[in-house]
Amino acid sequence: MAETIPEIKSVVQEAKNAFKKEFNEEANIVVYAPGRVNLIGEHIDYNDGFVMPMALPLVTVMVGKKIPGEETTILTMNPHTDPPNKTTIEMPNKNALVKTITPGPPKWSNYVKGVISNYIGDTPPAFKAVINSTVPTGGGLSSSAAIEVATYTFLDALVGPSAVMPTDKALACQKAEHDYANVPCGIMDQFISVMGKKGNALLIDCRSMTSTLIPMSDPKIVVLITNSNVKHELTGSEYATRRTQCHQAALILKKLSLRDAKMEDIDYLKKINTDEETIKRARHAVTEIQRTTEAAEALKKKDYKKFGQLMVASHNSLRDDFEVSCPELDQLVELAMQVEGVLGSRMTGGGFGGCTVTLVNSTAVTKVIDHVKKNYKGKPTFYVCKPSDGAQILSK
Ligand code: GLA
Repeated sequence: MAETIPEIKSVVQEAKNAFKKEFNEEANIVVYAPGRVNLIGEHIDYNDGFVMPMALPLVTVMVGKKIPGEETTILTMNPHTDPPNKTTIEMPNKNALVKTITPGPPKWSNYVKGVISNYIGDTPPAFKAVINSTVPTGGGLSSSAAIEVATYTFLDALVGPSAVMPTDKALACQKAEHDYANVPCGIMDQFISVMGKKGNALLIDCRSMTSTLIPMSDPKIVVLITNSNVKHELTGSEYATRRTQCHQAALILKKLSLRDAKMEDIDYLKKINTDEETIKRARHAVTEIQRTTEAAEALKKKDYKKFGQLMVASHNSLRDDFEVSCPELDQLVELAMQVEGVLGSRMTGGGFGGCTVTLVNSTAVTKVIDHVKKNYKGKPTFYVCKPSDGAQILSK
């Protein structure tokens, strides 16, 4: 069986109850932001190319209220590896020119601190809040983007309507992650958490920061997420290395980014004896951008067979050329592909653990889950997800 995904209203209610218990009053502001799964276009956002994620019904909820003074208190209901679960933040002084808060423990609070510091517009007032989330942490479903975008949305609700473009909101959250969590991530996760639309995947052009909705609500197909429940230590450092390698390949080719490279450029890299690793990284980026545009066309035509084939090709490229997969993810993909009715499967997100995403005929989903459960060497968790909405203010 797949996990039962709690409805947003029950996640909100839990948070409200915890708020009442902790602060002895009612929360009036309620917001949420979703996690995401990337369907195709992996490690492409920082190469200025195309990615195609969808927002999930797994969400981070933030409830709270404005208070006088300059001290903000936040409680998280989720288990974190870095307690305490409650933190206080000295808010930036309204008259200060730079609205900076220093990062510091606990780690989870840095997403919130980073977003407060990077908030565009009026300096936010102090507040009390409770965070509750159904996005698994460290599972490659963007729990960090969900907390960042939830915080930004919460501040919007506190400060009042802002004229900021949704893309600027995503960029501010990305900057929070760069500066406060030290992760040099691309823009995909924050973008989809802000801009997701129910019933649609989103094709994002990471160069122009524009996006196209692609309907994905056919009841004949299902998106199945399988969490390997492993996370290899490499994740952080290897991500930055891949970014640098792609950047270097673009420099050698005298291109702005690998978005501008073609297969002829890969041949040229070989001809001038570029090291094998750089060639492989560049080849993944060039072929993955191509696959993502083809996948968008296939999805528009409901050609799920083609879409599935592109997913598998994407996985193979991430495994062999980009080298960000791991034995557990490879096994999950292999097992899923053994079941009749599975259209395609691949690792999703940064890699080295986390989740796979599988496109499967609705009638076959139970069979896949059973088959994977029986044969996977670890303990997987399954989520059947429909494309969902981006961040929302539910009350203020
Ligand atoms: C992480 C990053 C994203 C993206 C993916 C890989 O999720 O946060 O920006 O680069 O990895 O596609």
